[in-house]
Amino acid sequence: MDFIGSLGLQQREGVPSCPQEGLPCPSNSSELVQECLQQFKVTGAQLRQIQISLLDSMEQALKGQASPASAVRMLPTYVGSTPHGTEQGDFVVLELGATGASLRVLWVTLMGIEGHKMEPRSQEFVIPQEVMLGPGQQLFDFAARCLSEFLDALPVGNQGLQLGFSFSFPCHQTGLDKSTLISWTKGFRCSGVEGQDVVQLLRDAIQRQGTYSIDVVAVVNDTVGTMMGCEPGVGPCEVGLVVDTGTNACYMEEARHVAVLDEDRGRVCISVEWGSFSDDGALGPVLTIFDRTLDHESLNLGAQRFEKMIGGLYLGELVRLVLAHLAQCGVLFGGYTSPALLRQGSILLEHVAEIEDPSAGAARVHAILQDLGLNPSASDAEFVQHVCAAVCTRAAQLCAAALAAVLSRLQHSREQQTLQIAVATGGRVFERHPRFLSILQETVMLLAPECDVSFIPSVDGGGQGVAMVTAVAARLAAHRCLLEETLAPFRLTREQLAAVQAQMREAMAKGLQGEASSLRMLPTYVRDTPDGSERGDFLALDLGGTNFRVLLVHVATGGVQITSQIYSIPECVAQGSGQQLFDHIVDCIVDFQEKQGLSGQSLPLGFTFSFPCTQLGLDQGILLNWTKGFNASDCEGQDVVCLLREAIRRRQAVELNVVAIVNDTVGTMMSCGYEDPHCEVGLIVGTGTNACYMEELRNVAIVAGDSGHMCINMEWGAFGDDGSLSMLSTRFDASVDQASINPGKQRFEKMISGMYLGEIVRHTLLHLTSLGVLFRGQQTQRLQTRDIFKTKFLSEIESDSLALRQVRAILEDLGLSLTSDDALMVLEVCQAVSQRAAQLCGAGVAAVVEKIRENRGLEELTVSVGVDGTLYKLHPHFSSLVAATVRELAPRCVVTFLQSEDGSGKGAALVTAVACRLAQMTCV
Ligand code: BG6
Ligand code: GLC
Ligand code: GLC
Repeated sequence: MDFIGSLGLQQREGVPSCPQEGLPCPSNSSELVQECLQQFKVTGAQLRQIQISLLDSMEQALKGQASPASAVRMLPTYVGSTPHGTEQGDFVVLELGATGASLRVLWVTLMGIEGHKMEPRSQEFVIPQEVMLGPGQQLFDFAARCLSEFLDALPVGNQGLQLGFSFSFPCHQTGLDKSTLISWTKGFRCSGVEGQDVVQLLRDAIQRQGTYSIDVVAVVNDTVGTMMGCEPGVGPCEVGLVVDTGTNACYMEEARHVAVLDEDRGRVCISVEWGSFSDDGALGPVLTIFDRTLDHESLNLGAQRFEKMIGGLYLGELVRLVLAHLAQCGVLFGGYTSPALLRQGSILLEHVAEIEDPSAGAARVHAILQDLGLNPSASDAEFVQHVCAAVCTRAAQLCAAALAAVLSRLQHSREQQTLQIAVATGGRVFERHPRFLSILQETVMLLAPECDVSFIPSVDGGGQGVAMVTAVAARLAAHRCLLEETLAPFRLTREQLAAVQAQMREAMAKGLQGEASSLRMLPTYVRDTPDGSERGDFLALDLGGTNFRVLLVHVATGGVQITSQIYSIPECVAQGSGQQLFDHIVDCIVDFQEKQGLSGQSLPLGFTFSFPCTQLGLDQGILLNWTKGFNASDCEGQDVVCLLREAIRRRQAVELNVVAIVNDTVGTMMSCGYEDPHCEVGLIVGTGTNACYMEELRNVAIVAGDSGHMCINMEWGAFGDDGSLSMLSTRFDASVDQASINPGKQRFEKMISGMYLGEIVRHTLLHLTSLGVLFRGQQTQRLQTRDIFKTKFLSEIESDSLALRQVRAILEDLGLSLTSDDALMVLEVCQAVSQRAAQLCGAGVAAVVEKIRENRGLEELTVSVGVDGTLYKLHPHFSSLVAATVRELAPRCVVTFLQSEDGSGKGAALVTAVACRLAQMTCV
């Protein structure tokens, strides 16, 4: 393999770069050589300064503080742990950018813990210079061709292949398979690649090539491959050091120290990208005139200054510049400079390494110089060896200073007195140069005496490590696929939602006509929204939501004042006997009256009773069936007002004047209607879900009269109970339904409301765990507990202001131990479930407002919807998703959503007030 054509230096053939400006040519030849060599000497103090300054630069970058181009980059990779040794399978590895103009393809088989090691097969390709400097697409097409050529020789057939892409340039990674090139280094300068995702570019090229089905599952830097491929010794290997064409290192950092990551636990591999370090204060004193010339003539002027003193791409060139200068000063080669000596890139790392070879070097130096068209004397040859040694010694020492900075960082972040650590080394400088490693080791010992470092050469140039990362990435990708498959049924298309809207419209029409329909469309005997003239003091009860409330509502000219108290209804009461439930309610009322000094008074009472009731008048409501976890016996089929009155009698309390019984949707519509006369729809998305709206009386078959309006309680929670929603129902909906106290009932409600969403999520998480996608496949007792996953967790977890680590904390409070990947997946499950709920709810609202618009024969309807319910109010995205769906499905309706501030008790009081006013008018 040769480096010719890949030097990353601007070709300025024939332009002499020596004698170096600013360097006089002393007459004494040995003095001059000494002077040149002297420039490459770096003192211990200077190395220490570099170590300190580099460490500082690393720490600044970790904190996310604005990093100048001259600083190290500290790029997080998505590698979170060193290999477990369990990774298995066949992987294709493509290496680009580590070694000059070469591209390597490998076939790596990982055998897991038990299996014996298998040697990878590999092939190298030389990248033509015009490809390195041409359009990006050409480079990636070249890579795809090399891949095909390599695979053609293997018996791979049509099987799908998984590829790890070792791409050794500074990149911003945002996932194991997403990586944006920041800038080319090391002699590459293909157009249209910087700022692009290189994985996508490779995928596109493979697709264009079209011969093999290859999935690019991971992208890694060469340092990461080097570290990950290292056979674990006494302890894991947590640093990867590469000195190849360029130089760089990676190491395992505590995640909590990496500001850009939202992570407080575990470790993450950071690619230091120290090649770009060039702090003037620290590097300035050691930069020679030759370094400046080299930089000046490179493709990336001013960039990668540190790398240009260490990387294999530059060592030969530094030597060449020194030799040309000395020749031009007449000190070497009798003052003769051959054209080759003046040509950039004519001395390579390989030459330097051979010249320094302790046994063969003396012989090789002659041959190499002769190949350059020179005719060296014995002393020339000796001088040349000194120059090579000086350049390479400095490189190894500088590299040691940088490694010492990384070691200090590790020691500091792990708060250890002495650090025992294994460093995996890779790259041709290590492989070829006879003394590089030993100088590096010696210098590290001096600069980081408290660290006990073992250096471990990498296996097959890091290919094994890339395969390891690919194995992990492949597992994660497979999990993602299973996650997507699981969530797919929750993701509804516009067509599906439009179908729900249409079915709802049909069911509404049938229900209104008294035909068989899952929508009961119950008349409420509320004929108008408030007009503002209502006055008086009223008692109200609000039963059926999260809280049971007793209220005193004062309606006056200046507005409505409310005093209320929340009482609990224990589950044993909600599901006990009817008598017990209503006795409890009366106890609460009596208590409230006593506290408010209302004992003995018989105020008119409005009863918000949020369950389906057949009404024959305002003060009569026959409970059809319980919903939402209530199941008190002997109530269904009974008039709820009578049950309340009987309980009052049993308690021998003051007779209450129950004037109206209203559904919570109606109470909410009335309450919001007091503020906005356009409010003609009531919507609840809380424990349960339901809607009511003002219908034309002529459309309501079971109520006499043809003119005017009546509010209809749709009881849309039961929509689909005739099986019409079965197409949308997932296996998780079925499980939730089966485990509920009313299987087969309230199917729409069970896909939307707060009582059920947490359960849907929990069942989905259980399934994903059984697939091994979540929680490492470990089922926990906690997650098997019914109702453990509250719907309020969805609201909390999906809150935009929450970081993933907080999401994890919420779940850990539930006793679930999970990784960041788990936390992200749980978040996605929550999003899918709540998004579907909001969209279904929106499809329902769209059906209602469109019906009102058509009833009135309007081109465009302006209407407001009064809304209440904890899910709607607390969830960060629910309300906007509902509104967006309505806009989409009912484009001719301008719908405003008004959140009810005072609960539906206020609305019940207003209905009562209207009834009292009408009653008085009738008496008169
Ligand atoms: C309240 C209303 O604000 O919201 C109740 O006053 C209603 O009448 C309830 O039932 C619905 O929400 P949730 O979340 O409490 O079921
Ligand atoms: C360059 C690249 C870096 C790589 C190193 C060694 O510095 O920017 O990503 O690790 O060379 O190949
Ligand atoms: C349930 C009830 C319904 C109520 C809704 C919201 O669906 O059946 O009457 O309006 O919950 O609380």
